[in-house]
Formats: sequence, C-alpha cells, structure tokens
Amino acid sequence: MQKVTELGYMGIGVKSLAEWKDYASRIVGLEVVDGAHPGQCFLRMDYWHHRIIVEEDGSDDLSFLGFRVAGAEEFRAMRAQLEEAGVTVQPASAGEAQERHVLELMRLEDPSGNALEIFHGPHVQTHKPFHPGRAMHGRFMTGTGGLGHLILRETVGFEKTHTFYSLLGMRGGVEYRIPIPGMDKPFEIMFLHCNDRDHTLAFGLPGDKRINHLMLEYENFHDVGLAYDLVQQNEIHVGITPGCHANDQMYSFYAANPSGWMIEFGWGGRDSTHQSEYYDRDTYGHKAQ
Ligand SMILES: [Fe+2]
Repeated sequence: MQKVTELGYMGIGVKSLAEWKDYASRIVGLEVVDGAHPGQCFLRMDYWHHRIIVEEDGSDDLSFLGFRVAGAEEFRAMRAQLEEAGVTVQPASAGEAQERHVLELMRLEDPSGNALEIFHGPHVQTHKPFHPGRAMHGRFMTGTGGLGHLILRETVGFEKTHTFYSLLGMRGGVEYRIPIPGMDKPFEIMFLHCNDRDHTLAFGLPGDKRINHLMLEYENFHDVGLAYDLVQQNEIHVGITPGCHANDQMYSFYAANPSGWMIEFGWGGRDSTHQSEYYDRDTYGHKAQ
C-alpha cells in the first residue's frame, strides 16, 4: 500500500497580502519570499523553497494541501491506488508542477471538497539557509514530520473522511471525547497521522472556514514565549490561552491571524504513538476565549 509521507506544503488565500507578510515574518518568524507575481508570496520554514503559498484572492481561507510521496515510483503507484478506489485524480502539467516547485504533481478532492495535491520531489535550496523574519532562539521543527498540523473542515462524517484518508495511507481515529453538560453524547475530535508527528490532520470542529488552525512547532521553547509577547504587544486576539494538549503533549497557545482563523504556536510535541488512545480533556490550560 502506498502512503503519503508528510504534509509538505499548503496554499492559503488572503484578503491582504501586506498584512500577512507582516504577521508571518514579524509575529511568527517565517521567511517571506516574493512570489511569481505581485499578488503572491512564499513563506519558508527551512531549506525548502517554500512551505506556504499565499495568494491575495480575497478568500481568507485554506486553498489546498500538498502531500508528499517518496518518489516517482510511489507517485505512479499512488495514482493507481486512488483510481482503483474510484477517486478522480487530475495529473498536473509540467508547468503546473514547476509553479509549485516540485517534480510531479496530481490534484484531487477529499469527500468534503477540500483541494488536495500529491507530489514528489520538492525543490530544496541547501544553498539558502532559512532566514527568520524576526529574531528566533531556534528554528522550526519540520524534518520528517512535515510542516505542522491543521484542523480541516469535514462535512460528510468521520467514517467517510477516515476511509478516504486511509487510502492516502494515513492512520488514526477519535482521540478526544469531551463530555458536554446537558448533552447525551460527548464532543469528539478525530486525528490522523502519516509520520512521526503525532497528527497532521484533525477533524470535528465546526466553522465557516475550511481551516480552523495551523500549528507550527518551534524547536526552542523560548520562541513560544517570544511569540506570546509579540501577540500581546500587537494586541492580537489570543483564541486559546497557553496550555498542554493531552494527545500530542504540545505546549502551545493560539492567536488570530489576519484571515480570522488561528495559528497555534507550539513546542515540545511528542512523536505519534501509532496506537489509539482517547482523552476527555487537555493536560492543563488551553482556555478558549
Ligand atoms: Fe493543534
């Protein structure tokens, strides 16, 4: 069975490119690189050409997720695996792959209509060390864990969503079952992983946008503290106060970004356990406000 190996890149649409460039560099510490045209920019986190493509299209939402497979053979086998299961896959042209700075690319949609891309061969610029947009104590944790994790909107139910992402080789299930006073059923959140990062995708939070939050993980704890100071100084709304999650044991806080969804500023996440567990609350903190 073919498996995706990481969330390699993602695309977001924004109303204000200028506000995003400022937020990404000055608050988060990402490196901003000019795009192919004035309404676009790339955000770097490591040696890769980019990890996030920002397009000024007015949507203020997620545009697409790019999942990596190991190489050309796996790319072909993944296409066959998806088509055998009845999933429509659109191979991209060489020009379209070049736009994404990858060797080969195909496009598809998950059952909830989220745009996905599967690629191999990202453009890695070893001659161009990551240059943070603001002073940083350390670097971003990417490596084999991919760029981070996110909560994605699903509208077809956990079972169908789980079946689809299992086809991409992802594993996981419900990890939070939170009792809600006055409700007979607990509130559930489903988490999926494809590498050593505890989870890459999560589902179950209702919202107007495809994306609820994107978690980026710092190598050094002090970068979470520094980000928290910068968020306070710039009067940016803190959506969830500092705390520690029960599943990935990430110490983090969440703040609004210029598009109105959230960035989770994280540190210290544990590796995926590869076996199911569930929790009824977080370890501490993380008060929604
Ligand atoms: Fe998260």
